[in-house]
Order: sequence, then structure tokens, then C-alpha cells
Amino acid sequence: MHDNIFYIYYPYGASNSPSAENSRERPSRQETKRMATKTAILVPILFGFAWSLLSSSFLGASAAGGQGEADGIFGRTLNQKKLLGSRKEKLSHFKLYWHDVASGKNPTSISVVKPINGSQTFFGAVNMIDNALTLGSDPSLKLVGRAQGFYAQTAQDQVDLLMAKNFAFVEGKYNGSSITVLGRNPVFDAVREMPVVGGSGLFRFAHGYAQLRTHTFDLKTGNATVEYNIYVFHY
Ligand SMILES: *[C@@H]1O[C@H](CO)[C@@H](O)[C@H](O)[C@H]1NC(C)=O
Ligand SMILES: *[C@@H]1O[C@H](CO)[C@@H](O)[C@H](O)[C@H]1NC(C)=O
Ligand SMILES: *[C@@H]1O[C@H](CO)[C@@H](O)[C@H](O)[C@H]1NC(C)=O
Repeated sequence: MHDNIFYIYYPYGASNSPSAENSRERPSRQETKRMATKTAILVPILFGFAWSLLSSSFLGASAAGGQGEADGIFGRTLNQKKLLGSRKEKLSHFKLYWHDVASGKNPTSISVVKPINGSQTFFGAVNMIDNALTLGSDPSLKLVGRAQGFYAQTAQDQVDLLMAKNFAFVEGKYNGSSITVLGRNPVFDAVREMPVVGGSGLFRFAHGYAQLRTHTFDLKTGNATVEYNIYVFHY
């Protein structure tokens, strides 16, 4: 009747399948025994073969990887002394004043993306900046660098900026070196903190943080001066 139905799978065992018990299609006891013997021989052989394949390919891969490193195909382990000499990691502190000039004849903080319509918090606004960095709060003091990058208003219910910028120094031994800062700036908090994520020149391998305190902020003109204390590890 159902000759074409050769096999019905009962996941929880044949004892729960009375219809299968007496089925003509079931392999005979002898056949089952022979199959079991074959399986008992074949499985270890196949498994052993697969295992040797796997382990040899793994060993091969790790050997090749080791060689690749030594050969410098696209990456290799360096001796730190060769790159850094006897230099040791040191911690430096910089106290700077950051001038966000949004108005007047020569603004350095310029709106490049307008906030979305109707946002009370100016959500979506982006400013590109090339702000002066001085040693004191008076913007006419000696320029030691510029903060170049942008900030974006990324909170819908408060003023909370994403800042991405390079502190490019132009003075003394730091001339030409830079520190990169990327972080969150909830501008109305008394103290904000942003990570130093890297640097160039004397600031290679830089990591650290900047603490920000608003010195002056003129809501009418948008001009702001912010004190930055930057703590940075570098070589
Ligand atoms: C903003 O600051 C700059 C630089 O100090 C100044 O020239 C400008 O007049 C200021 N804007 C206003 C409206 O005071
Ligand atoms: C924003 O509002 C202004 C003025 O009502 C309108 O001209 C402009 O198309 C709006 N922009 C968007 C993106 O909705
Ligand atoms: C900083 O470096 C630039 C480029 O090398 C140079 O033109 C400038 O005079 C240097 N400034 C100072 C203050 O040393």
C-alpha cells in the first residue's frame, strides 16, 4: 500500500512508534546488525580522517601566520625599543583657553548645517571650527594652537554636543604636533570630559582626557571661551 514510504522518523525512539515496529519496510534484525558494525568501523575512520585534516589545516594556518608576521607581508610584531628607542611613556598636562567666536568680523565657528525645523535644542546643527587656543582667557594673548574640527548638536531634549577636533599646536617644541579629541560635551554642565583618542608628532600613541569648564558664554553673540585642561599620556 505505502511501499514508497520507506522510512518514518520518530525523534523520540522506535518504541513510541508501534506502526513502525511491524512495518515491512523496517530493516531486518540482521541487516540492522550489519549496518551497526559498518558504522562502528566507519565512524572512527571518518572522524579520524576529518580530525587529521582539521588539525593539519589549523597547524598549517598558524605556522603560515607566524611566518607571515616574521616576513611582514602586511603586519608584524616589532621590537618596541627599535621604534621608540629609550623613550618612556610620560604624562603631560596642558591648560589652554579655547575661543569659539561665532560672530563679529572674523568668526572661527561657523554654522554649516542648520538645526532641524522647530527643534528647541537646535538638534542637528553642525558648526565647523578653527578656534584659537591661547594660554590665558584673553583672546588677544599669544596663539599656541588651533582647535580644528566640528561639533554637532546630537541631543533632542538638551544641548549635548558631539565634538571631533584636532588641537594643532603652532608653538615651541609642540609646533606641528597635534592631539585628537572626540567626545560628548553637555555644554551646560559645570565640568565636561572628553577623551583624547590619539595624536601625531610628539603625541604619537596619545591617550587621555580633556576637562572643560566654560569661562564665558555670551548667549546673544554665541561667543564662548572655554578652559581646557588636557591630561595626555604620550612618548
Ligand atoms: C565675538 O568675539 C569676537 C572676538 O573676540 C569679537 O570680535 C566679536 O565682536 C564678538 N562678538 C560680539 C557680538 O561681541
Ligand atoms: C523649514 O522651515 C522653513 C520655513 O518654514 C521651510 O522653508 C523649510 O522648507 C523647512 N525645511 C524642512 C527641511 O522642513
Ligand atoms: C612652526 O612650524 C612652521 C612649519 O614648520 C613654521 O613655519 C613656523 O615658523 C613654526 N612656528 C614657530 C613659532 O616655531
